[in-house]
Amino acid sequence: MVIGATGQTGRVTVGALVEDGWTVTAASRGGGRDGRWPRDVRAVRLDRDDDAALAALLGDGVDLVVDTAAFDTGHARQYARLANRIGSAVVLSSGAIYEDVQGRSFDTQHEPDGFPRYPAPIPETQPTVAPGAATYGARKAALERKLLALGDRLPVTLLRAGAIHGPHCRAPRELYFVRRNPDGRRTRVLAHGGRGRFHPVSVCTLAHLVRRAAARPGSRVLNAGDPEAPTVAEIGAAVDAVMGVETETVLLEGGRAAGQRRSDPVVGPPPGRVRHDGRRARAGPPAPAVVPRGTHRDGGLPGRAAHGGRGPARDVPEDRRAR
Ligand SMILES: NC(=O)c1ccc[n+]([C@@H]2O[C@H](COP(=O)([O-])OP(=O)(O)OC[C@H]3O[C@@H](n4cnc5c(N)ncnc54)[C@H](OP(=O)(O)O)[C@@H]3O)[C@@H](O)[C@H]2O)c1
Repeated sequence: MVIGATGQTGRVTVGALVEDGWTVTAASRGGGRDGRWPRDVRAVRLDRDDDAALAALLGDGVDLVVDTAAFDTGHARQYARLANRIGSAVVLSSGAIYEDVQGRSFDTQHEPDGFPRYPAPIPETQPTVAPGAATYGARKAALERKLLALGDRLPVTLLRAGAIHGPHCRAPRELYFVRRNPDGRRTRVLAHGGRGRFHPVSVCTLAHLVRRAAARPGSRVLNAGDPEAPTVAEIGAAVDAVMGVETETVLLEGGRAAGQRRSDPVVGPPPGRVRHDGRRARAGPPAPAVVPRGTHRDGGLPGRAAHGGRGPARDVPEDRRAR
């Protein structure tokens, strides 16, 4: 069963699992289906927050749950309750849970000197923010701990995704670059010399990791990143090349001033902030390039650094942000 099957990651993952011979139930709130799925994929409506509905859908049990819509300890508790009906699980987590050695993370980036300084690449052994309920990262950290604590009761692979990119993305970070081109806005300004990085991960890379984890269940945490981690400037150049457009890029060495709001103009990420160590998680062949990720979507902050064209909480679906 894939929860979040109609999302950008779910759509490709369902297809990959079918290719591997799985019989797939594709669950989402809307119950929709992707036109490329074979007919025998069963698309169903599910609000995964409805415990009874989730239990009913699991029925006597499934061999695998792939979950792109798990965000907090409530969801971890569902797995604890239903562990005897699930063979193994693969759950999307996020690189947003990492903190640096000074305790800085996405959650502190708006404080003076609060931007995290991560090693590049970031290994899975990097400290994470304390589990809690206050922020997206803290909730994901809490989810991770509770799922890993299930141990042999339920083998769970946690994929700490970078900046996800692919078709059906609901808020593509690259839009900052893409949208300016048809508008004829040919000059753009990138902070930090355009050197910021937020390690992208293609939905194809993620799907490949899912199929590998599904074939070899275990309790583990894996960074999920593409083989390459382009800078913001490189992503802009790649977008231009695809669109056949020439632009002028003005590079600033600085970044956002303390107290400057995210909606304020200019600036981007400090350089070299988030780069996953893909050695353990690399998913075999390079993912087919779609459009590389890492840029802000609405003209303000290209590649707001580590995991974020859009800052720490921006990989949270709209409907989850208020939670
Ligand atoms: N985006 C990023 O760059 C990024 C980075 C790191 C980690 N992540 C993680 O990746 C996951 C999101 O993956 P994605 O970007 O592939 O998803 P997405 O494109 O935002 O799609 C979300 C999917 O989840 C479904 N969904 C949402 N709430 C649900 C609920 N209560 N019950 C059942 N289904 C529900 C949606 O169904 P409907 O369309 O029917 O509502 C949709 O199929 C999250 O766990 C997020 O933390 C994202």
